[in-house]
Amino acid sequence: MGKLDGKVAIITGSTSGMGRETAYLFAKEGAKVVVTGRNAERAQAVVDKIKAEGGEAICVIADTSDLTAPQKIFDAAMAAYGTVDILMNNAGMLSLAQFSDITPEEFLKAINVNVTSALLLSQKVAPIMKAKGGCHIINVASIVGWAAHWGFVGYVTSKHAMVGLTKAMANELAPEIHVNGICPGAIRTAMLDSVGGEDAFGPMIERTALKRVGEGSEIATVALFLATNDSSFIDGQLIRVDGGVDV
Ligand SMILES: NC(=O)c1ccc[n+]([C@@H]2O[C@H](COP(=O)([O-])OP(=O)(O)OC[C@H]3O[C@@H](n4cnc5c(N)ncnc54)[C@H](OP(=O)(O)O)[C@@H]3O)[C@@H](O)[C@H]2O)c1
Repeated sequence: MGKLDGKVAIITGSTSGMGRETAYLFAKEGAKVVVTGRNAERAQAVVDKIKAEGGEAICVIADTSDLTAPQKIFDAAMAAYGTVDILMNNAGMLSLAQFSDITPEEFLKAINVNVTSALLLSQKVAPIMKAKGGCHIINVASIVGWAAHWGFVGYVTSKHAMVGLTKAMANELAPEIHVNGICPGAIRTAMLDSVGGEDAFGPMIERTALKRVGEGSEIATVALFLATNDSSFIDGQLIRVDGGVDV
């Protein structure tokens, strides 16, 4: 018996990286998974793999910089499965602009993709989850939601906002919905590769107790913990999954 048998889980940004690893793990544990992202080919590949292994999934192609995307994702999930038990707000974009250079457009895009879409999709699923009880929302922030580490002002601001959103939602949605978050450190994904991969993170790895980057699967297992009753007395918390940065 799987830990998520009979559950429906939306995982945004599950066409690659830690979202994709979480989609595979949740499906293996019995969840029906709604895979989302912009890349249709990779989304379909995730669905195909889940189905090939006996699981159940659909994909929804939506760009979350467009604030109508949450409605599209919600509608597709409801049309396919008629309910939602778990939402993982994971889709995210890196914005490398610094304070002095960032344009309002880039700043707002980072906020919309990384935070506003999470708020809007959560607003869609919350009434259903409230009525059911025993539901879980998991927000993916970052260790740059705790401290800046770098100057990437749009990204850092959006991830701090994700931390605040998690706490505010937990207060408002308890007890029927548990809202927690994950703050990943450097995790080996396409996003990490886009800024030079593991090699570019030498100084950070030096400050990490485990002296390595993490894997997407190491985020997925924490997401599973937060998506089940195993975390029954945890609410409004952000768990750092970073190998021990600056401990
Ligand atoms: N990797 C790290 O070291 C690290 C550290 C801290 C936090 N994080 C956070 O972890 C989350 C997952 O990132 P990852 O590292 O797994 O990176 P990734 O492999 O690049 O995955 C990012 C996911 O987000 C989706 N996405 C990006 N922009 C989107 C948009 N505008 N609309 C819809 N979907 C979008 C991508 O789908 P498409 O490409 O198909 O659109 C992809 O599925 C992000 O929130 C990121 O900020 C990552």
